[in-house]
Amino acid sequence: MKHFLKETDFSYSEAAAVFELAAQLKANRGKPQAQPLAGQTWGMLFSKSSTRTRVSFEVGLNELGAKPLFMEQKNMQIDRGETVEDTARVLSRYLHGLVIRTHGHEIIEGFARHGSMPVVNALTDLLHPCQIYTDSFTLAERWGQTGKLLESLKGRKLVYYGDCANNMANSWILGGALFGMEIVLSGPEAYAPGVEIRNLLAKEGYSETFVFEPDPVKAARNADVLYTDVWVSMGQEEETAERLKTFGPYGVSQQLMDQARPDAYFMHCLPAHVGMEVTEEVYTGKASIVFDEAENRLHMQKAILSQLLS
Ligand code: CP
Ligand code: NVA
Repeated sequence: MKHFLKETDFSYSEAAAVFELAAQLKANRGKPQAQPLAGQTWGMLFSKSSTRTRVSFEVGLNELGAKPLFMEQKNMQIDRGETVEDTARVLSRYLHGLVIRTHGHEIIEGFARHGSMPVVNALTDLLHPCQIYTDSFTLAERWGQTGKLLESLKGRKLVYYGDCANNMANSWILGGALFGMEIVLSGPEAYAPGVEIRNLLAKEGYSETFVFEPDPVKAARNADVLYTDVWVSMGQEEETAERLKTFGPYGVSQQLMDQARPDAYFMHCLPAHVGMEVTEEVYTGKASIVFDEAENRLHMQKAILSQLLS
């Protein structure tokens, strides 16, 4: 039984195949396509808000032949204390697979362990692997060629600004290690990469190749990509005032873009707070590829689901 809970759940060669498949699925969308999930019903259990992930998974599952069944955790018995173990066992009797967006990463691991269906991580507090695969594919579309998409990321420098201890930062650390990228994280010292991701990186067999650079200008030098995310992730709302006090210098501005390579891209997983983590000028400027990223969630997740079942 294969799950996709973290970036390294696919080997490098499996990830390379996923990238090629995403490109094919994108090119052929709208034409008659194979439906590897025909006749299946996939659950989507969410305990956090979502626009892109929910809609792209529902559309993608439909296009692969499966029926998506959206479940809000707050309406399920798990929210009233039913265990992850029992919920996983019961849902496995009905569903062919489960896409989960939740808080603790151990919850999604619990579903994978106790259920008997593939589980896909649609974001936890620790990781957001579907986003990193999608964003990397969006870059590979620009840098690579058919048959060598993933390879085109090797040695490229991506600088991530903001909360360097959140799910997106962690996922760039792990995904960047798998894909052979140079990952630099820039944010306040109090939000430097944490021990959990360092341990996971080591457990997955990677040395610490990422760099934490608190000086945002130094970090940007010669970068191929400047990337940012919200300063307050879902579940951190109570810390908003404290966070807004310290993140200011890490907003991506044209001055920062000017430090990067002339052909550098700006990326954001969205939703964006323009005027905070990114200026209007950069967000709407020619380097910004944020809506291509959003679109590619659909193609990439269809490829991930297809690969899981292959
Ligand atoms: N980027 C992303 O995961 O967006 P949603 O929260 O809207 O799903
Ligand atoms: N770090 C953000 C990502 C949103 C897609 C959050 O967890 O809210």
